[in-house]
Amino acid sequence: MNFEQIKEMNNSSAMPTYGRYELAIASGKGAVAKDFDGREYIDFTSGIGVNCLGYADEGWAEAVSTQAHTLSHISNLYYCEPTAKLTKQLTDATGFDKAFLGNSGAEANECAIKLARKYSYDKYGEGRYEIISLNSSFHGRTMNTLTATGQDALHPACFAPYPQGFVYCDKDIDSVKAAISDKTCAVMMEMIQGEGGVIPLDKDFVSAVCALAKEKDILIIIDEVQTGIGRTGKLLAHENYGIKPDIVTLAKGLGGGLPIGACLCTAELGTTMGAGSHGSTFGGNPIVCAGASYVLEKVNNPDFLSTVKANGEYIREKLSAFKNVKSIRGMGLMIGIEVEGKTGADVVKKAIENGVICLTAKTLVRLLPPLNITKEEIDLGLERLKTVIEE
Ligand SMILES: Cc1ncc(COP(=O)(O)O)c(C=O)c1O
Repeated sequence: MNFEQIKEMNNSSAMPTYGRYELAIASGKGAVAKDFDGREYIDFTSGIGVNCLGYADEGWAEAVSTQAHTLSHISNLYYCEPTAKLTKQLTDATGFDKAFLGNSGAEANECAIKLARKYSYDKYGEGRYEIISLNSSFHGRTMNTLTATGQDALHPACFAPYPQGFVYCDKDIDSVKAAISDKTCAVMMEMIQGEGGVIPLDKDFVSAVCALAKEKDILIIIDEVQTGIGRTGKLLAHENYGIKPDIVTLAKGLGGGLPIGACLCTAELGTTMGAGSHGSTFGGNPIVCAGASYVLEKVNNPDFLSTVKANGEYIREKLSAFKNVKSIRGMGLMIGIEVEGKTGADVVKKAIENGVICLTAKTLVRLLPPLNITKEEIDLGLERLKTVIEE
C-alpha cells in the first residue's frame, strides 16, 4: 500500500480522535524510521517515549518473539514466570515493595487512585478520598485520570459529569496547603510535566509538598509514565529530587514498544489491594512482560543511564547554539525547546519534510529520542532540525 491508500483506509474507518501528520511509518531500525516510499527520518519521538531502545531492537524482539512462541497469554488466575519475573525485577530495581501490572499509563494511574483511596479508607474510614493534582499536569484519558489532569481545556462539558474527588493547585506550596482538607488522601504529580509543556518541578517545592504530606499522612503519587525508565538519566525521575514517594506509576518506556502500565507502592501500602479489589485481563501479559524485562535489564545499568544524561547534555549544548532557540527545558533525553517566532506545531510539520520527527508540548518542540540513540543519529537529526528552527 502507499501513503494515500493507508490514509484513505484509516480515515474512512477509524474514529477521528487523532490529528495526524502527513506521514505513515512502514518500518524502523534504531532511531531511524522509514516511510512507505523508502524515505528515512531521524525519530526524536520514540513513539512518545515508548520505543526506548529504538525500533526493532534485536534483544527486545528476540525476547518478545521467544515468549510468543512459548506462551502468549494466560489469565491472572494462574502464576506465570515472565510476569513474576518482571514484578520482582521492578521491585528490586526501584526499592518499592509491590507492583501491579496493567496495560497503559492511564490504567497505572487508575490503580494508584484506587490504592490511595483504599489505604485512606482502611485507616481513617469514609470521606478521605480527594486527590490533589497540579495545574498543567497530564495523567491520562480515562474519566478519573482525565479529571485528575489539571487542564480545563481537557474537561469540556460534553464529557460531563466528571467524577468527584479531584482538586487542583498551582506549583506553589501555599496553593497546595490551601487545597489540602480533611478529605485529602493523596497528592499526585509528574516530576517534569510532559504534555503540559516540559516543565520540571522545582526541587524545593517538591520537598515542601512531601514534608507536608508526611506530616498529614497524605500519600505522594508520582506519575512517571513519561519520565520513568531512564528518560531523565536516572531509572526514575524522582531520584533527581531525593524523595521517596508512596506510589509510583510507569508505562510507556517500560514496554519498549508493547502496551504496559505498572503501579508500584511501598511496603506500608503493599497489602492494601487484596484479591478481587483490582485486576486486568491483559495485565501482566507474558509477551509484554518478557519485552519489559529485557528493557529493564538494559536500562537499569549505570553506564546506560550516564550515557542518557551525557547525550541529553550534548543535545542541549548543540541546540543552545541554534539561532531562534529561546529556551531549553527538561532533563536527560526529555527536552522541550521554545523557539522564537515559531510554534512547536510549525516546527514539527516542517521538520517532517526535512527528515526528522519531533513532538510538540503546548507551544514547545519536544524531543523524546530513543534512550540508546547514537551520536551519529543525534547529529543528523539536529542538522535537519537546525535548518527548520533557524529559517
Ligand atoms: C505523565 C503521563 N501520565 C499518564 C499518561 C497516560 O498514558 P497512556 O496514554 O498510556 O494511558 C501520559 C501519556 O502521555 C503521561 O504523559
